[in-house]
Amino acid sequence: MKGVILAGGLGTRLYPLTKITNKHLLPLYDRPMIYYPIEALVNAGISDIMIVTGGRKSGDFLSLLGNGSDFGLKHLNYTYQKGEGGIAEALGLCEHWAKGEDICVILGDNIIERNIAAAVRDFTAQGGGAKIMLKKVHDPERFGVAELHGDKVVSIEEKPKAPKSDLAVIGIYMYDGRVFEYIKTLEPSDRGELEITDVNNHYIRDGSMTYEVLEGWWTDAGTFDSLLKASNLVAQGGANRVDP
Ligand code: DAU
Repeated sequence: MKGVILAGGLGTRLYPLTKITNKHLLPLYDRPMIYYPIEALVNAGISDIMIVTGGRKSGDFLSLLGNGSDFGLKHLNYTYQKGEGGIAEALGLCEHWAKGEDICVILGDNIIERNIAAAVRDFTAQGGGAKIMLKKVHDPERFGVAELHGDKVVSIEEKPKAPKSDLAVIGIYMYDGRVFEYIKTLEPSDRGELEITDVNNHYIRDGSMTYEVLEGWWTDAGTFDSLLKASNLVAQGGANRVDP
C-alpha cells in the first residue's frame, strides 16, 4: 500500500498565519504540522509516500523533510498542485506514481491519537473498493457527514446545513486504483473545488465502500480554534500513539 499526504491549498482560514507560508509548515505544539500525517502513515507500515504540496513556500517542504530520515524513511516523493482546485484535484496528481496500487490518503491538517494499522490491514483484506473512517463530533456541519443504514454508508454530504448524523468523515481515505477514473468524472462544487466527498459517493454507489469508526481523538487543524485544540491535545498526551 502506498501513502499520499495532501498538503496543498492556501490555508485562507488561518490568515495571516498562512500569508507567507504553507499551513502544513506551521508549528503544532513541538513539530511542524506535516510531521503528524507522515508519522501516521509510517506507523501504519506505509513507507512509500507522496506529498502533494502547493501554494506558498512549497520548496520549504524539501528543506524540512528531505528524504524523510527523521521518520526512518529512505525516500520521499513530492509533487506540486498549482492553485487550490480541491482535495480530489490534488489526489489526481498522484495517478502516474500510484500505478494502480491501493493508496491510503491523509489530509495534511488531520491529526490522530491512535494507530490506523488495523484499518489499513482490513482494507487490504477487503480486496479493492474504498474505506473511510468516521468519528462522532458535536459540529458535523463543518465536515463531510455520513448517513448510515445498518452497517452500510448510504451517502455522504459535504458540510450540510442539516446533517443527517453526527458522524464526520475524517481526512483518511483508502482507495483502489479506480479512484483516478472517478476523479476524472468530477465537476467543481459550489466552492469551485473537486470534492473528495464526490469521489466517496462514487464508491458508495458502486457498493464497494466500507467504513470504520476511528478510536482515540481526531481533529483537523485548519482553523484558529482547531489548530489550538490540536496543539493542546498533542501537548497533553501525544499524537500517533503506537500502542494498540
Ligand atoms: O478534515 C476532514 C474534512 O476535510 C472532511 O470531513 C471533508 O469532507 C473534506 O472536504 C475536508 O474538508 P475541509 O473543507 O476542512 O478541507 P480543507 O479545504 O481545509 O483541506 C484539507 C486539506 O486538504 C488541506 O490541509 C490540504 C489539502 N488540500 C486542500 C485543498 C482545497 C489540498 O492539498 N489541495 C486543495 O486544493
